[in-house]
Amino acid sequence: MSQNKNAENEVTIREHVYDGIQEYDQKLPNWWLFTLYITMVWFVIAWFIYYQTPIRTLTDHERVDQHIAVIEGKKKAELEKMLASLSNESLKEMSADATHTAAGKAIFETKCAACHGINLDSKLNGVTLPGLPLNDTEWKYGGKPLEIMKTVTEGSPDVTKGMIAWKTQLSPSEIAQVVSYVLSKQPQS
Ligand code: HEC
Repeated sequence: MSQNKNAENEVTIREHVYDGIQEYDQKLPNWWLFTLYITMVWFVIAWFIYYQTPIRTLTDHERVDQHIAVIEGKKKAELEKMLASLSNESLKEMSADATHTAAGKAIFETKCAACHGINLDSKLNGVTLPGLPLNDTEWKYGGKPLEIMKTVTEGSPDVTKGMIAWKTQLSPSEIAQVVSYVLSKQPQS
């Protein structure tokens, strides 16, 4: 095998015969080969560091979950703080906060609307539903925010009516949110 110098453009042509065919291969430029070798070396180093050392102990999924848990934890802590200081005023404040009323609306529509109506008027297409209307100023068990909170948490004192103690199905924060939604639907006086 001999090497030819192509005088015109200074490219090295390596000629050889393979399977009876005369071939002329052009040598790859050094910068190209060098880059290729760097990527190979880098692969080995990166593979070793990433997979064989304790640097990366969590999968991407686990890392995302961890971040979400931190955010959820912060949100929860904020809500717990609010619940600890739950008062007529703080529930009223929640009822002016779209985040809470939106969450409360979703809970209301799945858990409460069947008896209290989607519009809180205890009506479905003109038919009266079993629950009491919640969008008026009449309250059987008290209309103060904390009183409503108590009715929803503990249920109706009259167990035959079907208004259960929702603390068995909803967390205190969910109850506060659904109550804030009910409050947001009160006629403004
Ligand atoms: C199975 C039907 C039913 C469901 C579901 C239901 N309720 Fe009731 N609710 C009633 C009935 C019936 C009463 C009246 C109880 C009574 O007269 O003692 C009532 C009463 C109430 C009251 C008291 C109203 C007043 O005038 O004092 C509130 C507040 C209330 N419900 C909120 C809710 C919320 C919030 C939910 C959803 C988490 C819910 N209810 C789910 C049937 C239901």
